[in-house]
Amino acid sequence: MPRKIAAGNWKMNGTAADLDQIKALASAHPSPSVEILICPPATLVAHMADAAGPIKVGGQDCHAEPSGAHTGDIAAPMLAAAGATAVIVGHSERRTDHAETDAIVQAKARAAHAAGLTAVICIGETLQEREAGTTLSVIDTQLSGSVPEGASDSNTVIAYEPLWAIGTGKVPTLDQIAEVHAHIRAKHTDLAILYGGSVKGSNATEIFGVPHVNGALVGGASLKANDFSPIVTAL
Ligand code: G3H
Repeated sequence: MPRKIAAGNWKMNGTAADLDQIKALASAHPSPSVEILICPPATLVAHMADAAGPIKVGGQDCHAEPSGAHTGDIAAPMLAAAGATAVIVGHSERRTDHAETDAIVQAKARAAHAAGLTAVICIGETLQEREAGTTLSVIDTQLSGSVPEGASDSNTVIAYEPLWAIGTGKVPTLDQIAEVHAHIRAKHTDLAILYGGSVKGSNATEIFGVPHVNGALVGGASLKANDFSPIVTAL
């Protein structure tokens, strides 16, 4: 049975003043029965790891190389040294804003593994691809191109995030989520598969009831403990 994870991606939000949110989340879930992972901006990883108690902390991206002349980038071993246990790779915002290909994402996932981090590999279709009926073939291409050899439940998580559901308030139907998750499960029997895209406290229970949904990758609703806590409880 894959692990269950309630993951939050703070994206480009948060300063030290927001560490109160992680403290509040930690006191609301002192002995969580599922993994809780928060991925703040890189500037907060070490601070958050110190304050997070039972909550795990992750990065939002890493470079494929362990060190070197890559101004502005963060290496996976640096995240690990700062207290991270995981890193998101291939988020659609990285794929779009930084032209990250499946090959780049796969190299980053390998780097995460080499540093002892869990790679949270994001995949998902655009609205145009969904409307063209190519969702499952897009997913197949992303999976085969992005997931490295040696991926297992202990080092890799798949996050299915339809791009049109991210930050829009639009959520796929439960049947649409079920179809994609079952498709991924057929290829990766042991990996946790998270759903991401406009998850909130009010829809988490029904989404977590969909077969092969092992948790969520949450953006906006992860920023405040009061919004994220009900999602954790629903899992
Ligand atoms: O990484 C998180 C996803 O992009 C979902 O973001 O919950 O704000 O739609 P959202």
